[in-house]
Amino acid sequence: MPRTPLIAGNWKMVLDHQQGTLLVQKLDWTLKDAKHDYSAVEVAVLPSHTSLRTVQTLIDGDKLSIRLGAQDVSEHDAGAHTGEVSAAQLSKLGVTYVAVGHSERRQHHGEDDAVVRAKTAKALAGGLVPVVCVGEPLEVRKAEQHVEHTVGQVVQALTGLTAEQVAGLVLAYEPVWAIGTGEVATPEDAQEVCAALRSAVAEQFDQTTADAVRILYGGSVKPANIASIMKQPDVDGALVGGASTDAGDFAAIVRFR
Ligand code: G3H
Repeated sequence: MPRTPLIAGNWKMVLDHQQGTLLVQKLDWTLKDAKHDYSAVEVAVLPSHTSLRTVQTLIDGDKLSIRLGAQDVSEHDAGAHTGEVSAAQLSKLGVTYVAVGHSERRQHHGEDDAVVRAKTAKALAGGLVPVVCVGEPLEVRKAEQHVEHTVGQVVQALTGLTAEQVAGLVLAYEPVWAIGTGEVATPEDAQEVCAALRSAVAEQFDQTTADAVRILYGGSVKPANIASIMKQPDVDGALVGGASTDAGDFAAIVRFR
């Protein structure tokens, strides 16, 4: 079965709930004007936790086809974990996707592969679709170890899951050196790693699972470079940071064809 492309906007800690509401309204109008077919290219936004409720109310109230995602989830179920938000809490709020293991969390918040694995499992158990992020820092790319590095991160994150669970989740390849730098990976760079990740899933699980799992590229995606990235056979969408906080740019990325 063909994989439905997913364009997801990670707002990071940029927009507050009022700015987020305006952006979603503008995005929806723009995409409606363009007669965007959401079943052909799925669209999601990942606001801060503080904006989830407001954006969800707008999406539900106006019956928008934009899906809601969160930027992080707790590795714990419930209880005394001050500041944490559980998968069950997000799910109850109408959240569909959740980013797990974003490089900013790995680098600046001490999340190692074990934490990423635990969060991925909790997200799935809570009824969310994890978007498991992997990617190599610049020194690893310079040492030409990027494939081994990212495959290792994926294998670690998916260990212990069933093939069925893996088929339904999303992987995101985000080279750390391309995030927020304006230095986008070439389409060939993106394809090389995304193909390697798919092969790794086939090896760890089976080919059917590998053919089903969606793999996004992330890192300085802009309206000008999305089309060439999306032409790559193993790239099934994009995880967009900076450009997703501008409704016009994000809509143009969604309309990459
Ligand atoms: O999650 C998104 C990525 O970190 C990419 O961010 O598009 O600003 O480079 P960027």
